[in-house]
This record gives sequence, structure tokens and C-alpha cells, in this order.
Amino acid sequence: MPLSTRLQGLKLPASADLHVHLRDGDMMELVTPTIRQGGVNTVFVMPNLVPPVTTVDRALDYKKRLEAIEPNVNYLMSLYLHETVTPETIIEAKKRGITGVKSYPAGVTTNSSSGVIDYTQFYPVFEEMERQDMVLNLHGEVPSQGDVTVLSAEERFLPTFLQLHERFPKLRIILEHCTTAAAVEAVKKCGPTVAATITAHHLSIIIDHWAGDPFCFCKPVAKTPADRDALLRTAASGNPKFFFGSDSAPHPSVSKRGGDKIAAGVFTQPYATQLVIDAFEQACENGVLKEEDITPEILEGFMGKFGRAFYGIGEEKKEFITIERKGEKVMNILQSGKVDVVPFRRDQETWSITWSG
Ligand code: NCD
Ligand code: ZN
Repeated sequence: MPLSTRLQGLKLPASADLHVHLRDGDMMELVTPTIRQGGVNTVFVMPNLVPPVTTVDRALDYKKRLEAIEPNVNYLMSLYLHETVTPETIIEAKKRGITGVKSYPAGVTTNSSSGVIDYTQFYPVFEEMERQDMVLNLHGEVPSQGDVTVLSAEERFLPTFLQLHERFPKLRIILEHCTTAAAVEAVKKCGPTVAATITAHHLSIIIDHWAGDPFCFCKPVAKTPADRDALLRTAASGNPKFFFGSDSAPHPSVSKRGGDKIAAGVFTQPYATQLVIDAFEQACENGVLKEEDITPEILEGFMGKFGRAFYGIGEEKKEFITIERKGEKVMNILQSGKVDVVPFRRDQETWSITWSG
């Protein structure tokens, strides 16, 4: 039986999307209401606003603004790793309910100019995070310089990643949006405190898609077919070290279509769950995955259970979604009159989601 027939009408627990960019102001107003459209009720919110979220007060104010827009989502908040973040900040962050600290290598992606140059400088912060059992979320790339390119930037970061785990074995670390077979292998080698997120778009696209299409361009860039297939097999393997984080990263369409520089980021929020299932289906058609491998348990694990377990969050309110194929198409553009954003795979057919309480 084709996968789409088998999954038709399937009821699943609500997804957890453990890597989202919800922005602030008009863009936040526009994209935050789309979280639940993607079948998601728990999100880990990235702190790369302008200026970055480097204090507990600012993170909690941000959370309030998000809750005012969509109260039916559990927002896990983070701080931006920065020289002003000290061990004392970590103690306060833990006490006041912040979940993680995100590190951006300086200059590699959107709003990362205040990012990290030397990780050893933050060892006292990591030590405190380990003590407080907070999560370190790593953007795993090195800046492009010398012989490093966007294609090798992730692989070249892996030694730093492994060193951090070796030095802080009890620190919970997530290698965010991993894109290469090499990264998958590195994460597998680590102990149970280390995990990785995988996006929906990296389960579907390769280099050729973003070379020429700004709406497929993000950091880290999608890599080779072999890398994508490794991600697909990993996401469908039931290994709890790998779970879903969309890295949905909205940019106004002018920053994608106009100007001299193209902003990095793919917007997937309203279709977060749907796009993962689309990618699994495509992989079955291409013979990368076997249809019988995509079971409800596999979907449940990757789309929420493993991530919630890693973060140690129960579900206060158990909610369910039902997935159906009924000819729905990805919207062409999402707009409010003040700002607009073009979604990944616009106009293409996808799954529909209904909430079943
Ligand atoms: C993200 C953004 O736009 O905030 N962009 C991206 O390409 N993924 C930042 C990030 O997570 O790297
Ligand atoms: Zn991101």
C-alpha cells in the first residue's frame, strides 16, 4: 500500500519544533499564528533578534509578546551566547525558566555578527550550564575563510563540537540543523547528552535547489544527495538522538528577491509537520526509504517524543493532530499588509492538518 494511503487520516501527538525563528514586531505578528497550522504546539525559540537576546529579562519579555499572539503554544526560550553572558547569567536563567543558550559562530548566518569567535572564552559559562543542566544549542559551522566554503563549513566545525562534548560530558548539547552524513556520524559517536536537530527542508533539497533559488537558501546550506539521504535514513531510524527542528527562518520577500545580498533562511512554519511527511514520501518513491519503515511510531518519535524527552518536558496538555492528503497547496505568500514572506515549496501540494484536541 502506498505510504500516502497508509498515513491518510492518521492521528498523531502534536509535533514539537525544536528550532524556530519567530522574529519580533510585524514579522512575529505574521508568523507566530502559523505555528499550530504546522501541527506544532511546542517550540524552541532562537534568540537572534536585532539586538540579540542576551539577558533573561529580554528573553522573558519576548516570551510574553509571543504568548500574547498565540497562547496555545509552549515556548522554550533561549539566550544568545555573547561576552555579556556570564556564569551568573546562567544561574539566573535557570531559576527563571530559560531552557537553552544558542551559540552562533561570528558572521556565518543571519544576525550572527555578535557571535562567538573563540569557544574557550566561554568555558566558565559552559561549566555553569553543565551544573545547571541547561542546553547548549550549537550552530555548527565555521566561518568561510581560507579554504573553508559553505560546503565544508559544517564538517570543519565537528572537531570543535567533539572537543566541547569531551570537555563537558554532562553538558546537554544539540548540534542544530545538521546537514551532512559526517555530522550524523559525529553525533552518533557522542554520549547520551548529545543530540541533533534535522529540518524538513534538509530532508528534501540538495545543493542544486538553492543554487539559483533564494527560497531554498539557508545556513547551513543543503549539501549532496548522499548527505540528504543520510539525514532521511537517520530521521526514519528511530534513534532518539535525532529529532525535528524546522529552522523556519522568515525573511521579507524583498530580502530574498531584491537587493545585492540574499538573506539566509527558509520559511516552513505553517507546514512544519506536513513537509517532513512529504519528504519521507518522496524518499520512498525514490527508493531511499522503504514504505514500511515510515510507521506511526517513527513519525511520533522524530516529530516530538525524542525532542521532548531530550529537553525533559512532559506534555502538560496532550493534544493530537490528524494528517490527511486532500489536495491542499502550500500558500504562495503569507502577508499582513506590513510585511510578507514566501514559504518553501510555495504552490505545491502537501498534507492537511486538523487538530483533534
Ligand atoms: C537563520 C535566520 O534567518 O535567522 N537563517 C538560516 O539560514 N537558517 C539563522 C540560522 O539559524 O542560521
Ligand atoms: Zn536557525
